[in-house]
Amino acid sequence: NLSQALIDHLPKAELHLHIEGTLEPAMMLELAKRNGVELPYASVEEVAKAYEFDCLQDFLDLYYQGMSVLLTERDFYDLTWAYLVRVHADRLTHVELFFDPQAHTDRGVAFETVLAGITQALEDAKKEFGITSKLIMCFLRHLPEEEAFEALECACKHKDHIFGVGLDSSEQGHPPEKFARVFEAARKEGFTPVAHVGEEGTAENVRDALDLLKIERVDHGNHALDDAALTKRLADQQTPLTMCPISNWRLKGIPSLSASPVKKALDAGLLVTVNSDDPSYFGGYLNDNYRAVVEHLDVTEQDVVTLAKNSFAASFLSDGEKQAHL
Ligand code: ADE
Ligand code: ZN
Repeated sequence: NLSQALIDHLPKAELHLHIEGTLEPAMMLELAKRNGVELPYASVEEVAKAYEFDCLQDFLDLYYQGMSVLLTERDFYDLTWAYLVRVHADRLTHVELFFDPQAHTDRGVAFETVLAGITQALEDAKKEFGITSKLIMCFLRHLPEEEAFEALECACKHKDHIFGVGLDSSEQGHPPEKFARVFEAARKEGFTPVAHVGEEGTAENVRDALDLLKIERVDHGNHALDDAALTKRLADQQTPLTMCPISNWRLKGIPSLSASPVKKALDAGLLVTVNSDDPSYFGGYLNDNYRAVVEHLDVTEQDVVTLAKNSFAASFLSDGEKQAHL
């Protein structure tokens, strides 16, 4: 059908993607074997069966367990390369991806090992497929501020490869203000700030992330729409939102895909984008998320074109680079 062909044909950027969340069950088992890591699963089917989540924390527990198989530079290369090959088929031409270094340095894997594997795959994808990219380092919000400062210190040695800083992991109990100082330091060092807010948390978290962390893009931001004044502010300033419909549904942030706020955000004039978040864990890559929007929301083909255009408009590419992608 027409929408399907349109989705497949349109060039798109993905702006909310955790590289560790692309670890497919088959690769998880393969790397476990290669690295001699014990997993509580014996088969791909057993892994897939475990992926039933009642909330964000349910998912995070398995997400951190899954990444225990990632140890060497080659592992991070293979992980990143597999994602890029997969989304090249979805006509993705630009990606701004998150990585969670603290989840690796905490296990004794060097920051440089993680970064080298990811950046080599990104460079190869540029050469092979013409895919452009930016890397955003996330601070894990359930860990202390001091450890975020340690991650920032590592990032400062690699400004050539790390563009921005983000904030992810458990939103409940870890409000933006906990990271106000480290974000200020990161901004002073030239990193572009973004944050996961309003996923499980309230509109107040979104406002605080804008005011205290000075974020330039809102990751998720679903609950921003609960607040009319905040919605107007986001629309007036054209602050981008990176929404993730299948993720929201699988983490029970919304009861069904038809409850995704993507259409409401479009109608409110927000610069909203559609993304996959952690495609392996939630069972959908970039185009699956576009298809979910088309199938479950009352969107037009013009809306689909707008979403794809928004993905570049909301990116951190320069205006000239954005034009080259359209
Ligand atoms: N880490 C990976 N995916 C995440 C999400 N959707 N929210 C918070 N932290 C995450
Ligand atoms: Zn996310």
